[in-house]
Amino acid sequence: MFAKDLLANKTIIITGGGSGLGRSMATRFCELGASVVIASRKLEVLTKTAKEITEQTGGKVLPLELDVRNYRDIERVIDRTVDELGLIHGLVNNAAGNFLSPTEHLSHKAFDAIVDIVLRGSYYFSLALGKHWIAQKQPGTMLNIVTTYASTGSGYVVPSSISKAGVLNLTRSLAAEWGPKGIRTNAIAPGPFPTKGAWQRLVPDPAMEKQITERIPLRRLGEHGELADLAAYLMCDGSGFINGEVVTIDGGEWLAGAGEFNFLDRLTPEDWAEFSKKLKR
Ligand code: HXC
Ligand code: NAP
Repeated sequence: MFAKDLLANKTIIITGGGSGLGRSMATRFCELGASVVIASRKLEVLTKTAKEITEQTGGKVLPLELDVRNYRDIERVIDRTVDELGLIHGLVNNAAGNFLSPTEHLSHKAFDAIVDIVLRGSYYFSLALGKHWIAQKQPGTMLNIVTTYASTGSGYVVPSSISKAGVLNLTRSLAAEWGPKGIRTNAIAPGPFPTKGAWQRLVPDPAMEKQITERIPLRRLGEHGELADLAAYLMCDGSGFINGEVVTIDGGEWLAGAGEFNFLDRLTPEDWAEFSKKLKR
């Protein structure tokens, strides 16, 4: 899909890059010539992932321990990246936490747990790297991984929904404020992409996966390569005039859920013949 050197000589930090979609983006960026830092809490997972990505792509992957809730950790990751890989060109705020629960069952601390990772963590990393880039008079590209419900809201994932809405707003706010300094900020809003982290917590049984798949107009779930390619495009110089945008990648799911009459896709041709008799021409 892309020239093989699309991201050559770029260094990109991916929070939560040791698993799931973060890992898939790290792999794709390396295939396209980037050096990548993957950073999250579990150093053992990161180290294994880094080794596997390097074996697969030949790319340079630096695994660094990071808790995005800790600002000092973030500053340390930025310093280590500069020391070991040189200039930083991009950041993907991908780390997240989530769970499925009726809101009235949640403790107040459960809200804090998610907001601290998703909203505070994304803000902290954007702030620390923004300060660094601005001080160095260096351009840069940020990409925030949100969700489709960042715009629509969603029941049963309220702490995540509120946090992702905040990150979407952060995307648009910084795009305007830091655009003049050469810093672009965009977001991707994925629909469902199977990952261990999300599926264990949100889609624990096959019947639920089937239900989700059936409401997507394309009648399938997302493939990691599709999201990784979109991320690569938004991180590369060719997308240089895109700033403050959120790109939805969900097979048409949220629009199908919103359109008043879209539920009629359940009618068979026979149902339609019967139903049409009731409609005034
Ligand atoms: C209700 C829960 C809970 C659950 C924890 N809590 N899990 N409440 N349901 N399943 C509550 C606890 O009781 C506690 O409150 C508070 O939250 C903090 O819990 P900890 O276990 O101490 O939190 P912590 O160790 O910080 O772990 C964070 C985590 C965990 C979010 C709870 O699941 C995690 O580390 N997740 C990271 C990976 C992840 O979630 N990936 C999925 C991303 S998918 P009290 O009051 O008892 O102290 C995604 C979008 C998917 O984001 C969209 C799909 C379409
Ligand atoms: P995942 O594999 O569970 O990814 C979450 C990552 O966040 C993990 O690598 C985790 O690593 C890291 N993380 C969690 N808390 C952290 C903290 N305090 N500090 C640093 N890192 C932390 O799930 P995923 O599905 O790939 O999700 C990736 C992104 O896509 C998330 O932003 C998610 O909201 C978004 N998304 C996913 C879907 C989907 O269908 N999969 C849909 C919409 C949006 P450690 O445990 O090592 O810290």
